[in-house]
Amino acid sequence: MDYKKLILSAILLLFAISIVPVVSADNSCINCHEKLSAFNETERHFNEIRLQHLARDITCSLECHATTLNKFAKSNYELWTKSKHALFNVTCNNCHGGDPGSDIKEKAHIGVLRSSDSNSTIFYRNVPETCGKCHANELNQFKNSGHYQKLKALQQAPSCDTCHRPHEFKILNTSEFHDLCSQCHNLDMKIAPADVPDRAIAALDNAEKLKNEIKLAYNSIQQAKQKGKDVSAAQKDLDNAMSIRDNLPVRWHAFDLLSFGKVIDSGIEAAQKAQQESGMPVSKPSTPGFGILLALTGITAMYMLLRRK
Ligand code: HEC
Ligand code: HEC
Ligand code: HEC
Ligand code: HEC
Ligand code: HEC
Repeated sequence: MDYKKLILSAILLLFAISIVPVVSADNSCINCHEKLSAFNETERHFNEIRLQHLARDITCSLECHATTLNKFAKSNYELWTKSKHALFNVTCNNCHGGDPGSDIKEKAHIGVLRSSDSNSTIFYRNVPETCGKCHANELNQFKNSGHYQKLKALQQAPSCDTCHRPHEFKILNTSEFHDLCSQCHNLDMKIAPADVPDRAIAALDNAEKLKNEIKLAYNSIQQAKQKGKDVSAAQKDLDNAMSIRDNLPVRWHAFDLLSFGKVIDSGIEAAQKAQQESGMPVSKPSTPGFGILLALTGITAMYMLLRRK
């Protein structure tokens, strides 16, 4: 084998190694934090309060509860294991920095800064940029929001982790986030419109309506296809409605409920147009009231007929 080939295969081998994802088991952050001691219930409650303080811009750094530091490290590990991030190998160092190749605490922690340090990747106001490394679309929308502007203007406003709860980083459902939004959007605090939680929930309910209209359009297009009809126009409108639907979770982060609502309406319109264009009757669930009325009329008619005899 000549040396050119040798070099080439060496390069290829190096490349192959470099693209193999870091397996969590080889990640020192995970290995070590897994073994620390965990929170008891009272301490867990304490951490909840700490997070609420952070969201309401009351400085409550770890320094004030230094004894529980060790337990934070374990408790956060436990929450993390339940997250989609754990599933996709987004490990501690992806957000906190540090050296996941070192087993020595002091070395591994080089570059890991406390959340109270304004240079930290997890400092409250720096969090959007930290998450935005991977969630660029959400960050771009978020930058247009009043939330982001207030956050940067050092005022009380939510950051990504206010709504996505470290370290599960899950998507809240509407019943959960009503309380969360009301922490700031209420009549007493007067920092923003108090009716926002209700309007936000109404907007997301409207998104459910779009999903239903898309299902109906999909079904009628399938039926039309079976009958050999030309469905190209209907399909185009359905595609349009679906791409609007897929973009909603990202668009949501501009926190502009008016334009969010308008976009959903245009999606609903496109889906309904697709239903009409397919030329197939849409089987809407019949209202029970109508059925009962029909039955009653039938019974009355029978009764009248029988009486005549
Ligand atoms: C050898 C064990 C060990 C390793 C390896 C380790 N940690 Fe830690 N970590 C700890 C302990 C113990 C604490 C509790 C506070 C302390 O003792 O410094 C902690 C605390 C932390 C904290 C709380 C804030 C702070 O700075 O103290 C963060 C964040 C953190 N670790 C992230 C990481 C990340 C990210 C990695 C990998 C790059 C990592 N750790 C690797 C043991 C470890
Ligand atoms: C997706 C990003 C992300 C990942 C992954 C992540 N963290 Fe965090 N972590 C944060 C954010 C944001 C905060 C600040 C909010 C808070 O104080 O809880 C934080 C706070 C912490 C704190 C409190 C430190 C302080 O200075 O207030 C500890 C300890 C911690 N994380 C440990 C871990 C460990 C251990 C892992 C891995 C098992 C991990 N984190 C994975 C984003 C992340
Ligand atoms: C290193 C890349 C990376 C970073 C940094 C990161 N994420 Fe993620 N995140 C992912 C991946 C990968 C997924 C799973 C695939 C997906 O849903 O797109 C995910 C999923 C999510 C989800 C969806 C969870 C679900 O249950 O569907 C939320 C919410 C989320 N991340 C929030 C955050 C927040 C908030 C931060 C910052 C504190 C953050 N992420 C930082 C890569 C990252
Ligand atoms: C930590 C406080 C805080 C939390 C929590 C919070 N907000 Fe806000 N919100 C604000 C601030 C501050 C503004 C900016 C008001 C302004 O621009 O004067 C705002 C503005 C808004 C606006 C724009 C209002 C308008 O008139 O256009 C919307 C929409 C909004 N928030 C929705 C939400 C939703 C939905 C939630 C919960 C999922 C939420 N907010 C949680 C502080 C918060
Ligand atoms: C005021 C609350 C709030 C803030 C602040 C917020 N989010 Fe969200 N996020 C939500 C809600 C609610 C959803 C679900 C929206 C939906 O179902 O349409 C969501 C959905 C997501 C998703 C899932 C998107 C998908 O395609 O399914 C990701 C990822 C995410 N957010 C990341 C972020 C990041 C990154 C930031 C900061 C730059 C952030 N969020 C800030 C409330 C928030």
